[in-house]
Amino acid sequence: MPPQNLSRRAFVKAAGVLGVAAGMPLLCPPRTHAESLPLNPADEDDPNAATGKVVSQATTLRGLAGKKGLLLGTAFSNSALRRDPAYGEVIAREFNCLVAENIMKLNAIQRVRGEFDFTAADAMMAFAAKHDMQVRAVPLVWHDALPPWAKDLTFPRQEALAILRDHIFAMMTHFRSRVFAWDVLNEGLSDKGPGLREEGPWFHSIGPDYVEKIYHMAHEADPEAKLFYNDFDMDGMSKKADSCYLWIKELLARGVPIHGIGLQYHVRVDQHPSPTEVTENIRRFNDLGLIVHITELDVWLPTQATAEHLQQQAEVYRQVFETALAARNCPAVLLWGFTDRYSWVPGNTGGTFDHALIYDRDYRPKPAYAAIAAALR
Ligand code: G3I
Repeated sequence: MPPQNLSRRAFVKAAGVLGVAAGMPLLCPPRTHAESLPLNPADEDDPNAATGKVVSQATTLRGLAGKKGLLLGTAFSNSALRRDPAYGEVIAREFNCLVAENIMKLNAIQRVRGEFDFTAADAMMAFAAKHDMQVRAVPLVWHDALPPWAKDLTFPRQEALAILRDHIFAMMTHFRSRVFAWDVLNEGLSDKGPGLREEGPWFHSIGPDYVEKIYHMAHEADPEAKLFYNDFDMDGMSKKADSCYLWIKELLARGVPIHGIGLQYHVRVDQHPSPTEVTENIRRFNDLGLIVHITELDVWLPTQATAEHLQQQAEVYRQVFETALAARNCPAVLLWGFTDRYSWVPGNTGGTFDHALIYDRDYRPKPAYAAIAAALR
């Protein structure tokens, strides 16, 4: 996993640069990752506050996205749903699509090798079905989120292939027709330059052809399924996006069944691709006949965020939605969570970045909410 993915290049520098906001008014005081706070009674008249009131579909993001035919999703956590009623209320009201933040990863599904535990993922599926939402699934194969038994780098090739085949078939059989798109491989490209990522057991035990093998397995497991490749730092016309484009083009030419590209879109508010280059990037993948999804959107602010940062963040969210809507084939935008109460960002950036989502920790919509609504109108 690239917890500091986009910041891997820039994180250390950023800590210094963005830290200069210290001393500015603190709009959103930093709190721990999963700290639970009571809802603010002052929000009761706010249609976007999590009061449980019925809100007109016409004014929710979900209602607006539906009119545009856009899938608008969020990463989902069962534990947040269990502990926090407002969490589920806001999701059901504002989104029409879910993706599991963690509960469909290998370390959640096969804590014990060969024992598939779908309990948490099934609970998410039930929530999605109850609220008439689509589900996107991520990821079938990743070098990260491995249970201890899978961290073994010495699997013989055939054994590693059998592990992946069993996992792919079990997942795609169990969730068949309940998932509309699968990230078969997540983050398979190197962060260090062209070529495949070499960390993790799959490249190590199988070799570079593990990529095509897993796409063929997934296609065999469910010939109807849409199969995606998902990665970070390739939202605009970056070197990584160029490598990805050429690599995927070559795989397609060899008949590997890939139907879509997921652009993760974890960006810093002061360092993100321009709409023009994102448009160009999406267009070239569309030209290969591929669908594009924005899969893990969040826009990081310095921990000491100001009102100006929130406006800048809103502008980035607006641009992303406008770009997706204008593209030929980018029918889904998923946020990597929606409330700063539950976001991976502060815990994974050493406390340097935070406030990456569209609701604050008390479920008050931020300017980004209105910006997305404006883009969807
Ligand atoms: O649930 C356990 C808890 O029981 C335990 O006490 C605690 C101790 O560390 O860990 C908890 O699990 C953590 C889990 O998040 C739930 O909070 C894991 O340690 C932690 O590694 C895991 O991090 C997730 C990370 O992927 C690795 O799987 C993040 O939440 C999740 O946001 C992040 O998502 C990734 C995408 O899958 C791929 N793209 C990048 C994105 C951000 O890194």
